[in-house]
Amino acid sequence: MGTAVTPRKIESQHTDRGTIPVYATGVVEQPWESYSRTDHDVWNALYKRQRALLPGRACDEFLDGVARLGLGENGIPKFEDLDRVLRKATGWELVGVEGLLPEQVFFDHLANRRFPVTWWIRKPEQMDYLSEPDLFHDLFGHVPLLLNPVFADYMQAYGRGGMKAFGIGPEALANLTRLYWYTVEFGLINTAAGQRIYGAGILSSKGESVYCLDAPAPNRIGFNLERIMRARYRIDTYQQTYFVIENFEQLFNATKPDFAPIYARLRDLPAVPAAEVLAGDKVFNRGTREGFATDADA
Ligand code: PHE
Ligand code: CO
Repeated sequence: MGTAVTPRKIESQHTDRGTIPVYATGVVEQPWESYSRTDHDVWNALYKRQRALLPGRACDEFLDGVARLGLGENGIPKFEDLDRVLRKATGWELVGVEGLLPEQVFFDHLANRRFPVTWWIRKPEQMDYLSEPDLFHDLFGHVPLLLNPVFADYMQAYGRGGMKAFGIGPEALANLTRLYWYTVEFGLINTAAGQRIYGAGILSSKGESVYCLDAPAPNRIGFNLERIMRARYRIDTYQQTYFVIENFEQLFNATKPDFAPIYARLRDLPAVPAAEVLAGDKVFNRGTREGFATDADA
């Protein structure tokens, strides 16, 4: 993190998920000049490591986006340079933020094709894990796929859907949040060459990039909207279940219908534990559950 500027953390909220930081919610100019040599080195090292790992693991659409954005080992990218490519391709732009945003503010950005990117990058001792999104996760993990027209539209539709779910109530919002988690953050996609990653939470993680495809422990199950909306998840370990889409059109089309009646229907159904396989699931891999944490899911 740069020495001149520090993120304005407002407070920490203590919840049943642990302590969650709350940041100033405004958009901030990326303080590019104040990144330290160490900040740039952290980007370069993370970029190099993931870029070497991802061929044959990340989907082509993601790798294509990385190339088109010109991401590389030349230090932390300038948001304005990426914006030029994004605006022209799909009309998206980046906005700098201090960290995780309140849900409504986040939805509003997405609904207007603005993707919030945390301006600060993790410290060298956090190369392998950190508990909240930083610039590397937000930028490397999420932004390349915003160049894909179908995925770009899905993200905007999600923002609009978020506003709507917020108005319906907390249960609806929980259902929608699970959809984001199991697609945008931890989604897998079937291709002619085999399963590939498109979820940003995986793409920015060295360990999970390998684990999600190669480990026998987790379930890999075909995408099913209502099933996903019932699936609890872990925020502190690798996922116990991954959901696999066939293509981005499937994702976009499956989420087109009005969710209001779906939310209403799901209210009467129990949530599904993260590790559970249900009778109707299309199972690509039934996980062995080896090494799974046995305490409660989020
Ligand atoms: N169709 C959803 C609704 O009516 C909106 C949505 C679209 C949500 C895409 C997520 C992703 O609420
Ligand atoms: Co993310």
